[in-house]
Amino acid sequence: MELADILGRRRMTRSYLPDPIPREVIERIVSTVRRAPSGGFSQGHRLVVVTEADTRRELARLAGEEEYVAAGGQAWISTAPVHVFVGTREESYHERYRRPDKLRDGEEIGWPAPYWYVDAGAAFMLLQLAAIDAGLATGVYGVLPEQVPEVETLLGVPDDVHFVCLVTIGHPAPDPRETAVVSRLTQRRLPVAELVRWERWDEPGQPTSQAQR
Ligand SMILES: Cc1cc2nc3c(=O)[nH]c(=O)nc-3n(C[C@H](O)[C@H](O)[C@H](O)COP(=O)(O)O)c2cc1C
Repeated sequence: MELADILGRRRMTRSYLPDPIPREVIERIVSTVRRAPSGGFSQGHRLVVVTEADTRRELARLAGEEEYVAAGGQAWISTAPVHVFVGTREESYHERYRRPDKLRDGEEIGWPAPYWYVDAGAAFMLLQLAAIDAGLATGVYGVLPEQVPEVETLLGVPDDVHFVCLVTIGHPAPDPRETAVVSRLTQRRLPVAELVRWERWDEPGQPTSQAQR
């Protein structure tokens, strides 16, 4: 599939058929994580693939699926046949940047942004694009901070790996009840001119805002 087609289909799907996804297809999708960029090639991203129904139901409970359904949405989290926990191991970055080729004046560099979370975002996007390329749909969900320890315990995630988000993968189902609970439908897609500035933020003559989807 061409990148433009994949991007055209890139959206968070919140309605799935329960049909299982063949293991080799899942393996192909999650192995794209090896292609993810990472600061210093620290490769701190860590995934847990979940297909067991009981675990998926528990994840849905922790994510507050009940309230989502009560608000008019689908039970998409418990229905999606594959969930991928995306975690990050910050220590991988400190280990990498304490290697001789990365030291500055004998010290680990300061961090302009927490690259371990930046890279986890890039990794989940690769999963999403690979799933779409495989003819599937994907979504992303988070849990409230107080539920994070329960998610990590449920999945046996070690202490040095931190929750980032969960990705759902499956065949899309029609969603007649796609409702106002979906942010994409309640929030305006910002025009490029509001998101992108040229040369300097305060440079005069920036491209003007046009109605863009
Ligand atoms: C880090 C992250 C967390 C998200 N968490 C949730 C979530 O918990 N529940 C949900 O329904 N959507 C979640 N989303 C999806 C966003 O609402 C969605 O990306 C946004 O509305 C734009 O829609 P689109 O991705 O379909 O274009 C999340 C997205 C990201 C990137």
